[in-house]
Amino acid sequence: MVPGARIELATPAFSGRRSTSELPRHANNFSSLGAARQAVNSPGIFSFLGPCFNRCMPTTAQESVSLIPELDKLASSAASGDGLMNSMVAFFHEKLPRYNWVGFYMIDPSDSKMLVLGPFRGAPTPHTRIPLNQGICGAAASSGETVVVDDVNTDPRYLACSLETKSEIVVPVFAKGKVVGELDIDSHVHAAFGPDDRKLCEHAAHLLGKFIESH
Ligand code: SME
Repeated sequence: MVPGARIELATPAFSGRRSTSELPRHANNFSSLGAARQAVNSPGIFSFLGPCFNRCMPTTAQESVSLIPELDKLASSAASGDGLMNSMVAFFHEKLPRYNWVGFYMIDPSDSKMLVLGPFRGAPTPHTRIPLNQGICGAAASSGETVVVDDVNTDPRYLACSLETKSEIVVPVFAKGKVVGELDIDSHVHAAFGPDDRKLCEHAAHLLGKFIESH
């Protein structure tokens, strides 16, 4: 994105696709996030910027919440817990560009004080096993509460996975009243996880917990 570019979230997005000849000359002429996203997704000179731009920009709340029915479909068609975790991480990573790293950690069946990395999308992490008394992951699993960190660099619990990570959400997964794992998402965007992201992630964790209970 051009330094100083101004994006106004409140104004409505363009309804039609724009040709490159209609594109504003400068990014700070964009009147809405939707327009900016649409412009960089258009074919032509700006199209190469699309993937990079999309991974750096916030997505609207509406986009997060509208994914709930698709998540429900993933859960109802899953053949196994691993299969459901795999399809959920792939789904989130693909649909929500600011979800740069998406993965599950599950309680080690042979050590209830340890989380073990499960299916994930994003860069490989050195944290394949996390004790329950360490990290933001450990805090969420041991408290049984969702943890949202707007700026990981100010949180002393944070275990670094990537220098690019700015914010993180970790949502516990419950089965039969016990924490069995968690959904962990990192973003390169500061404060990327608002109330609608929390709702979406908690819904995903709930679906996985229910699936585990019944299989
Ligand atoms: N940041 C996490 C560690 C896991 S990585 O983000 C994938 C934590 O602080 O527990």
